[in-house]
Amino acid sequence: MLRKILTKVVTTTYLPSNPYPGEMLPIERLRLFQWVRKCAPKVVLEVGSGVGGSTFYMSEAIREHGGVLHTCDPLRRPPENFLKRFEDTLCYHPLRSDELISWMRHNSIAPDFIFFDGPEIPELALDDIRSLEEWIEPGCYFAMHDWEQAGGANRKIVSIKAKLIRPYLENSSDWVQEDLLSGHQKNVWWTKGSFDSVGLCLYRYSPKRVATSMAA
Ligand SMILES: C[S@@+](CC[C@H](N)C(=O)[O-])C[C@H]1O[C@@H](n2cnc3c(N)ncnc32)[C@H](O)[C@@H]1O
Repeated sequence: MLRKILTKVVTTTYLPSNPYPGEMLPIERLRLFQWVRKCAPKVVLEVGSGVGGSTFYMSEAIREHGGVLHTCDPLRRPPENFLKRFEDTLCYHPLRSDELISWMRHNSIAPDFIFFDGPEIPELALDDIRSLEEWIEPGCYFAMHDWEQAGGANRKIVSIKAKLIRPYLENSSDWVQEDLLSGHQKNVWWTKGSFDSVGLCLYRYSPKRVATSMAA
């Protein structure tokens, strides 16, 4: 009960008030908001808008420095008054992620912050990041929800969407982990319950090929 109250106090203190529903847990919303504010991206790419849970916090976070958020979802969308609220900074695309990525590449709109929270198809996230790696700039950030894999202490972890992309990034020397919320242990003392996340990662793109070509 005390932690439930504390969670409410912390989130109402540090997060903008959100009248819309969403699918992320309180500490995940807070971290995603803080990361986007700190990274201050000019162009955010989001895969999996849903009804706008994560889109809301990223849209609030980019207000200060004037970024733009491109989000896609071929099946669901945030409500009209949500889209109106962020009409100067938010572009919702009723497209699949591969379609939006191709469109952005074709129009030379390179993201400097990427957030994946798409469908439960392991190949999709891996294919998308590999196609993005062909043209994003060094320094681009990457975050993903449902990062945790089944098999640990938290029996409620069931998502498979990061099953292929997680080992790919962990074994890549081009991506550096900047932060992580674990799904198998508590991340902060003030959240309620035994676990407070299903996994949320933050990586930075630091490809070695840049250093190699500069050294040559
Ligand atoms: C977990 S939900 C997103 C939740 C949302 N980010 C939030 O915080 O509330 C995943 C979404 O991915 C969408 N989706 C399914 N296939 C997709 C695709 N090929 N590209 C982008 N999004 C897709 C689904 O329609 C669904 O709304």
